[in-house]
Formats: sequence, C-alpha cells, structure tokens
Amino acid sequence: MGAIYGARVTVRADPIEWTEVTLEADGEATAQVFVHALFAEGAVSVDRRVLQTASGLVEQIVGTFLHSETSRAAAETLQAHERTIAAPGWSADWLAQQRAIEISPTLAVAPHFVDSRAPLTLRIDPGLAFGTATHPTTQLCLRKLESLLTDPRARRPASLLDVGCGTGVLAIAGLRLGVESAIGTDIDPIALRTARRCARLNQLDDARLVLSNRTPDAHGQHPLVLANLPPEPMELLTPAIARAVANQGTLILSGFFTELVDPITSPFESRGFQKTNVDARAEWAVVCLTRTQDPFLPSPL
Ligand SMILES: C[S@@+](CC[C@H](N)C(=O)[O-])C[C@H]1O[C@@H](n2cnc3c(N)ncnc32)[C@H](O)[C@@H]1O
Repeated sequence: MGAIYGARVTVRADPIEWTEVTLEADGEATAQVFVHALFAEGAVSVDRRVLQTASGLVEQIVGTFLHSETSRAAAETLQAHERTIAAPGWSADWLAQQRAIEISPTLAVAPHFVDSRAPLTLRIDPGLAFGTATHPTTQLCLRKLESLLTDPRARRPASLLDVGCGTGVLAIAGLRLGVESAIGTDIDPIALRTARRCARLNQLDDARLVLSNRTPDAHGQHPLVLANLPPEPMELLTPAIARAVANQGTLILSGFFTELVDPITSPFESRGFQKTNVDARAEWAVVCLTRTQDPFLPSPL
C-alpha cells in the first residue's frame, strides 16, 4: 500500500511509446480518487479492471500516459511502493480488453478492431491521445452533442470548432451526425496526428476536419463550439473561445468538476453568454451556454 492513496503502482512500457500506471484500489471511494488522480497527473485515458488474485478480487485503475517522463512523475506523486518497466509489444491481453463504449442507445465509441452493434459507432484509435471516450467528460460532451444534433426542432449548425480536440472524437461525432465541416485545435502534436488518423478511420476526408495548433479564435466564428479542457487552459483560452462562438451560437464546456462550474462560466456570462444547461457525471460537469449578445458590438444607447 502506498503512502498517499494506499496503492501499488506499476509502470509498463507498451507498443507505440506509451506507458501505463496501475494502481490497486481497495474500494469504490479509493477507485474514484485514483481515476481523478491519474487524469490530474496527465493520463490520456483511464481504465478500471477487476482481477482475480490469490488474495481475492483486486481492482486495478490503469492510466495510459503518452510520455514516460509524465508517467514516472505520476508514479512518484502517487508515492508508489513498486514500479516496473516491462517489455514492449501489443499484448494479447490489452487487445482482448478493448470494448465498445456505449454513449447512448444510438451512439458508441470503439477501437477500429472491436465489434459494435450501435447504430452509429465512432472509430477511435485507443491509447494515443486523450479522447477515447473512457473519461466522463468526453461521454458527457458526446451525449450533449448527440441530443443537440438530433433534436428535430433545432437547426443543425454548418460548422463546429473542437478546442483541445485530442483524438478529435467530438469533432468526428459532430461530422458523423451531419455537421458539414469542423475545426479541431490542440497544442499536442501527437493529438493532432491521432485526430487525423481517427478522422480517416471514420471515412472523413481531410477537407471536412481541419486540424490546427492555433488559438481557438484563429479560425473565424462557428455556430457550435466545444471545449473539453482542464481548468487552467480553459481560463487562459476563455477570451479566444468566447470570440470563436457566433452570435446565437452554442458553447459546450467540460473538463472540470461541478464545484468549478460558476468560476469557469462567469467570465463567459460577462462576455454575453447565458447558461442554458448543466449536467454532471462522477463529479465532472458539462455546461451548455448560448451567446445571446455580441460583446464586440456597441451596446444600444
Ligand atoms: C480533456 S482532453 C479532451 C480531448 C477530447 N476533446 C475529448 O473530449 O475527449 C484536453 C485536450 O486539450 C488539449 N490542450 C490542453 N491545453 C491546450 C491549449 N492551451 N490549447 C489547445 N489544446 C489544449 C490537450 O492536449 C488534450 O488533448
């Protein structure tokens, strides 16, 4: 048992340069703390696996990291008793554990080599960037996006902007649900490369999803903008995200806990946005806002 969370940590080097940090949880409360802790330390996805061992059932919380320095730092922060680096290679176990993730009765996300019976399955390469739909914030955003884009009363937006696109899963969902074109931005070059590959896995040609490392307001205004970002980049990018939303456009924000909803949304409200809906799952929040005023136009006298 480790000093902070009572955990044992294993670091495993795996195929295309990613590492896993594994913690053993001794109950649901600990498991949830581990999930949050691994994401906070930079894991791009986190899985929960139950194993039968000689001493009974053990739940492992496995964080996937893109860079071994980050995973090592995570293991240190979590004060692991044990850390091992194993041989590389796509393990049969890992492949066998991959499953389709059901977002709703009609929408699923799955690696390209996994069967899925959902009417619409988004094909995402697992493990290379954040956005494989294992995280509650991705699931919350996908659910919101699907209900918005399948609402018969709502006009379908012609374009969307996905800020911090990771694998591009949100932009890809929007495109597959009928939005004509999308822009995905990210500061991580691996994420941008992964998003291109995932777009192709979904038969989306390069013109429909433009990928960029520029700021959110470098690509004009859009009737729909999504930003699933941790609080720090969210705060930093708030003015640029606000500028990228067209008048009467919709903004979907996630990536933070429910207690941060007000601090994160009030700078948007003071820029002419109105909160229309807040949802949560496992303490993570998703917020919808509408831009009701154009703060760049002079106010009427
Ligand atoms: C929580 S992940 C979201 C990924 C995906 N959109 C999803 O919903 O699953 C956040 C992403 O934002 C990116 N990011 C972090 N800071 C950023 C910044 N300042 N500008 C653009 N992207 C950023 C990260 O590289 C990461 O891919």
